Amino acid sequence: MLNIALDGPGGAGKSTIAKAVAARLGIVYVDTGALYRTIGLHVRRRNADPSDCAAVEALLPEISLEIRYEDGGQQVYLNGTCVGDAIRTPEMSHYASAVSVHPPVRAFLLETQRKIARENSVIMDGRDIGTVILPDAQVKIFVTASPECRAERRWRELVAKGIDTTLEAVLTEMNERDARDAGRELAPTAAAEDALLFDNTGFDLAQSVAFVLGVVAGKTGILPPRG
Ligand code: DC
Repeated sequence: MLNIALDGPGGAGKSTIAKAVAARLGIVYVDTGALYRTIGLHVRRRNADPSDCAAVEALLPEISLEIRYEDGGQQVYLNGTCVGDAIRTPEMSHYASAVSVHPPVRAFLLETQRKIARENSVIMDGRDIGTVILPDAQVKIFVTASPECRAERRWRELVAKGIDTTLEAVLTEMNERDARDAGRELAPTAAAEDALLFDNTGFDLAQSVAFVLGVVAGKTGILPPRG
């Protein structure tokens, strides 16, 4: 199986790039942030404090997660119901980051992620894919961009979804979240030693996709089918 790990902070363009690369190579795109977001959603619905490790851990046995691919996109099912866009709000970004700090949450999601990569060729995006989840991935890329560029991309995504927010609010929230994700003790956002660093500030999607496909070809000899 081909395993590609794409890590980096929020708004670096990981998911957009990964989706496009998956389509070009005919492999599965796995958005691991959606899993943490779904746990955050359950914690929110149960009115628990996402920063309270014991409270969050106590809720894990109630959670059954399933990833399904529908119309070419990834959907997460929480206890049998599709979460849809309910996990895509700024509030759920915060909840996801807060719950992702807790070791029991990371342990809970570890095998789900590894199993998908064992059974399918994947490009998986997250924070700790190259370091913890798939240390043997054939291709590891750590994607980043300037904070301003990342905040603007996130802001445009949110506005396109009809979420009313300002660029300043997105930048503040993003900086706070990145600091927590990179500063946590277990599996922080980090580039694996053997990862390639890719700063895509000012790159458009086509350029970023071409770059990643070039790295994949160079490392594995795998090229996208023509057409
Ligand atoms: O990629 P995202 O913005 O959807 O991720 C939401 C949060 O989930 C992120 O702030 C930290 C957490 N996360 C993580 O800890 N490890 C991952 N592999 C993916 C996401």
